[in-house]
Amino acid sequence: MEKEVLSIVDKRNGSTYEVPIHHGTIRAMDLRQIKTGPDDFGLMTYDPAFMNTASCKSAITFIDGDKGILRYRGYPIEQLAEKCSFLEVAYLVLFGELPSDPQLKEWVGAITHHTMLHETTKHFLEGFRYDAHPMGMLVSTVAALSTVYPDARNIHDPQVRKLQIMRLIGKMPTIAAYTYRHSLGLPYVYPDNDFSYSENFMNMLWKMTEPKYAANPVLARALDILFILHADHEQNCSANVMRSVGSSHADPFLSTAAAAAALSGPLHGGANEEVLKMLDQIGSKDKIPAYIAKVKAGEFKLMGFGHRIYKNYDPRASVIKWAADKVFEVTGRNPKLDIALELERIALEDDYFVKRKLYPNVDFYSGIIYQAMGFKPEIFTVLFAIPRTAGWLAQWQELLEDGEQKIARPRQVYTGYEARDFVPMEKRGVPAATATP
Ligand code: ACO
Repeated sequence: MEKEVLSIVDKRNGSTYEVPIHHGTIRAMDLRQIKTGPDDFGLMTYDPAFMNTASCKSAITFIDGDKGILRYRGYPIEQLAEKCSFLEVAYLVLFGELPSDPQLKEWVGAITHHTMLHETTKHFLEGFRYDAHPMGMLVSTVAALSTVYPDARNIHDPQVRKLQIMRLIGKMPTIAAYTYRHSLGLPYVYPDNDFSYSENFMNMLWKMTEPKYAANPVLARALDILFILHADHEQNCSANVMRSVGSSHADPFLSTAAAAAALSGPLHGGANEEVLKMLDQIGSKDKIPAYIAKVKAGEFKLMGFGHRIYKNYDPRASVIKWAADKVFEVTGRNPKLDIALELERIALEDDYFVKRKLYPNVDFYSGIIYQAMGFKPEIFTVLFAIPRTAGWLAQWQELLEDGEQKIARPRQVYTGYEARDFVPMEKRGVPAATATP
């Protein structure tokens, strides 16, 4: 096959360049040779918010946003959601292949034996105010685990890395459940090794005085499916933070805490909580047209709609709608579903949303299921962070094993002052009212 090459003519001086194309990309560093003279730094690209920049090569997750396709390690998300457990999918995402039966048993056993928190970590959680947001508690507690496991700093040893991965995946539900119990003033429930990953999480959340908690199997399976859907999503905001912080060789607890902090924002994982607030605010179906009119007037965004990559239906939202039916058979129908369905119907027929290719994303329906299952909206993003930990850690491992990666350090286009001399206080005058920094 003929080599794929991009020819560039620099009209400033007539110079021509040949730049190789690989995987539909050119290397930004290949542009540095394009100069007007020896003092010229060379050409850079300008790409705020990484709209058209690949920051890494990755073999973990494939998304075709135009076709609405999501695959982990090549397997369609719909098949994984139907046939696998979350821990099986976490193994796939982390290690590249579906586990064999003995591999899965060993993996599940290892995760199950890493669910306990050090008692000092429990005391640390007790220090939060009664009304602390669960995401703030989660982010801080995950960061605090770095002090409990100083061995985690040895990021170059694959065995040490694997141990931290098992610790993080094992402990996330425990931290999440403790943040929930803390906000309700309830005593913490210790992990129970008899249960599956999702059942144990439900046990730590909802066990009261009964000697043994019995998770509803339909709800436990629905939670597992929701975890599968949220396990990874390639280079999203929080994955990019994971890689960026990880590239400085910070330990995985600190990198994961940073990624979780990014997830908490309302434009990212925080959107599921915002969707519920929005549905409450709308209140009834007849108020939807007026609400949509305000969205179109630019007053606010329709939460749970739109995506940087998907310009089609988010495949995760389709699976969630299917899982919602199963959940509602147990819990009764969440009345917010009717408002959401009508909102989706009206939005998808409206020119504003059609032209911009705005479809429901994963967060649009997840909150409605979570609420029907008994979760309060403040914990929705924590429910997202639990499974996404597998994806963050897979991205982190891939980064560390990639010989092309270095510490992440973007360039900037400087638009400030040229060099100027210091002005002493007595000569600065009265600043303009708007000049306060
Ligand atoms: N409601 C109304 N208009 C929207 C919405 C929305 N939810 N999303 C995008 N638009 C509009 C923008 O105003 C813009 O319109 P314009 O061309 O007239 O200026 C156009 O659609 C393109 O939107 P961008 O903001 O350029 O899209 P971007 O890729 O930067 O943003 C994002 C993606 C952040 C997800 C955005 O769609 C949004 O804010 N959605 C609501 C929050 C949300 O649901 N986030 C969860 C995403 S999924 C996840 O992170 C797990």
